[in-house]
Amino acid sequence: MNRTQVYIQQSKEKFLNELIELLKIPSISADANYSSFVHQTAEEIAKSLTNAGADNVEICQTAGYPVVYGEKIIDQNLPTVLVYGHYDVQPADPLELWKSPAFEPVIEKTEIHPEGAIFGRGACDDKGQMYMHVKAFEAMMKANELPCNVKFMIEGEEEIGSVNLGIFVKENHEKLKADIILVSDTGMLANDTPSITTGLRGLSYVEVEVTGPNRDLHSGLYGGCVANPINILAKMIASLHDENNHITIPGFYDQVVELSHAERAEMAKAPFSQDAYNKALDMEDVYGEKGYSTPERGSIRPTLDVNGIWGGYTGEGAKTVIASKAFAKISMRLVPNQSPEEITELFQKHFESIGPKGVKVKVTPHHGGEPVVTPIDSIGYEAASKAYEQTFNKKPIPVRSGGSIPIIAMFEQELGLKTVLMGFGLDSDAIHSPNEHFGLFNFYKGIETIPYFYHYFTELTLNSDSSKKGLLQNQQ
Ligand code: BES
Ligand code: MN
Ligand code: MN
Repeated sequence: MNRTQVYIQQSKEKFLNELIELLKIPSISADANYSSFVHQTAEEIAKSLTNAGADNVEICQTAGYPVVYGEKIIDQNLPTVLVYGHYDVQPADPLELWKSPAFEPVIEKTEIHPEGAIFGRGACDDKGQMYMHVKAFEAMMKANELPCNVKFMIEGEEEIGSVNLGIFVKENHEKLKADIILVSDTGMLANDTPSITTGLRGLSYVEVEVTGPNRDLHSGLYGGCVANPINILAKMIASLHDENNHITIPGFYDQVVELSHAERAEMAKAPFSQDAYNKALDMEDVYGEKGYSTPERGSIRPTLDVNGIWGGYTGEGAKTVIASKAFAKISMRLVPNQSPEEITELFQKHFESIGPKGVKVKVTPHHGGEPVVTPIDSIGYEAASKAYEQTFNKKPIPVRSGGSIPIIAMFEQELGLKTVLMGFGLDSDAIHSPNEHFGLFNFYKGIETIPYFYHYFTELTLNSDSSKKGLLQNQQ
């Protein structure tokens, strides 16, 4: 075992205690009432980077929450890894469904995590996973074994669309110069089945408003005579899927890249149990697009889902009323090569056209994000693969994920950099849900695996043709 790994083994308890402190701060970016906590978290991250040995640590102000930056440049001729993560978290509601309070972390054993898991909002998404990088860096520094340069860019607005990080990236090309972006904000298949995420879905998110009469009406006096916006909205939403669960918006699938038979056969090799999946969610059966398996429906196919719907009377007892307005929030997950702007436009045009006379339909776009696929024949992927093999004794499987990290596509567009998605969470870790948790096994495996990525990435880069020709980003 090298000195880095020895340091990690000796520091496990300290690492965990530090993560617990970080999880106590409710850094909810979506809710302005928590603003001071989000800022406080940025300061804590900055301190931990400094303590770990980073130079030029900076809390970079933006129009929203700050980006925490730090770096260690040991030699201009060595490659540079740019680590991205986020310190903001999702709101914790519904609070009453948490077994212990969301911001008072506890360690509990579960069936999937017999060694224990840390429960708390952000444990997996993404404080726990982001912190693995800070601790892996600390270990390499303390052991004097950092093999290449590293830069950290930890943001506080991922859960609300990374709009200000987008601006920060555009304005800081020089500062962010690197050879690869390394992210742990995704998952893996199982603790005994490591995997590397090779794709993320894009996102188009809209809010719709259907207005009927100009005021709420007595449902006896007016019922049957006017368009009830809630009835109409329900009908309009229902019409967005056909009997095969295909999305009916004209042009929606036009740009979708269909996978070849061979690619789908390759995907099907990843272990998956439909039975276990149903059991874990207490469902008799799944539901989705005809002709595709559950793993396919959740990764290589686009979707449309209502995320929230409201209107009318929802208080206690009965109130006989026809509401004037009905609302819904709708997300569409996108796959290559769908463009969020184009899809939002198609949705808007279609949704406005299917409203009957008697209602007005308004569509308001929210933030979106481009889909991503990352190559598996790259140095970054190979380095990650070798790193997992070292710590799991198994070669990781490439898997496309259904989630979205909108900024990743922008990194490539703006900085010309590929991303490696080395996630250590599990789908069952309940991210965004009550009782979010992160396995201690996963937390420590992450910290152990990351230094090997640095090692192999440096080795492979220095041996590559472009390196010999002096084409490393930071040599230009
Ligand atoms: N870390 C997640 C995304 C994720 C999770 C990708 C698991 C793959 C596997 C990220 O924090 C997230 O929640 N993204 C949002 C999008 C954002 C614009 C709110 C999402 O996917 O809903
Ligand atoms: Mn995340
Ligand atoms: Mn998230």
